[in-house]
Amino acid sequence: MVRLFAKAGAEVKVVMTEAAKDFVTPLTLSTLSNHPVFSAFQRDEDTGEWTNHVELGMWADLMVIAPLSANTLAKMATGRCDNLLMAVYLSAKCPVMVAPAMDLDMYQHPTTTENLVKLRQFGNIILEARSGELASGLVGQGRMEEPEEILEQVITHFADSAVFNGKKILITAGPTHERLDPVRFIGNYSSGKMGFALAEQLAGMGAHVLLVSGPTALSAHHPNIELTRVVSADEMYTACIEKFEHCEIAVLSAAVADFKPKYRADDKLKKSSGLHNLELEPTVDILASLGERKQPGQLLVGFALETSNELENAMDKLRRKNLDLIVLNSLRDPGAGFAHDTNKVTLVDRENNISRFELKDKREVARDIAMRIKELSVK
Ligand code: CTP
Repeated sequence: MVRLFAKAGAEVKVVMTEAAKDFVTPLTLSTLSNHPVFSAFQRDEDTGEWTNHVELGMWADLMVIAPLSANTLAKMATGRCDNLLMAVYLSAKCPVMVAPAMDLDMYQHPTTTENLVKLRQFGNIILEARSGELASGLVGQGRMEEPEEILEQVITHFADSAVFNGKKILITAGPTHERLDPVRFIGNYSSGKMGFALAEQLAGMGAHVLLVSGPTALSAHHPNIELTRVVSADEMYTACIEKFEHCEIAVLSAAVADFKPKYRADDKLKKSSGLHNLELEPTVDILASLGERKQPGQLLVGFALETSNELENAMDKLRRKNLDLIVLNSLRDPGAGFAHDTNKVTLVDRENNISRFELKDKREVARDIAMRIKELSVK
């Protein structure tokens, strides 16, 4: 990996743990990286200076921890700082990419899963372990991602990071809750995962993201994301109208309730008063309202969840609401849609260009959508 990075033109400085030295000598990595290897808080005999972990953390544009052991993973998840590597990690100002490698039972252990989730929440980039033959002789998931692929991911990371520099992007996410009385509402099963994944992706590509979310259990981590939490369709509408005029792009992925109760009770509705009918009225269509307000140079993306005549309905929605791109997800596909971690989408633009994608993790779907938006916004 050090050789590949150096060959690709990167300046590489290596931090080794004591355990790493059982696999490869510091001399080898020092020769390949053309820098001394850092492994302990050492004092330079000539200058009298100590190894400065803060400086190392500030120096790098990217920190790659590969292979990431179960032990270092656990330390990263809890902030335990007992070696130079952890001190550099904790003081690093740059993005951190990790490539876990361990035996398959260790990789599958619930603590490992939980620790990886934590790292992801901290904003670290995880390159999932591959399946294959492991050092123990067992076969399964736990192999470190191939060095060539890690280099690819690093190159993609830097290519992506400036794509939306200086752009403001409005995103809606999650469901809306339409109040019936102080304790009840009409809602839907949307988890907000797709919208939050889009926000993280676009923020990672340099955009300033204004994320307007209905009630979800999710939180946003990227410093470029400004999160506004709302409850109802009306509140989401007000927030979006106010923000849209400052944005170059808007992606409306929220599952906004189409109807709200016509009358809202201030007191809890009593069983004894016998509520037999619920009168509803339509909510305001946020996407259509933004479509009406859209100015030249602004790009509007909507979502469609269809169960029949999918493509036809999506194309119709694209025109009716004056969109530039529509993301169609079909409830027919197992694993796609509400509350799943995966999604399967088809993208359709104004010129009827259709791109179909496989069932993927919502974070990867977010990248596909972001890349399509990039293509449309440079047209
Ligand atoms: N949407 C919105 N405001 C609403 C309802 C929907 O902004 N009140 C947006 C969603 O965020 C999504 C898109 O509209 O981007 C698709 O919503 P959908 O409910 O499928 O569209 P409708 O036009 O209501 O079509 P349908 O007849 O299928 O209900």
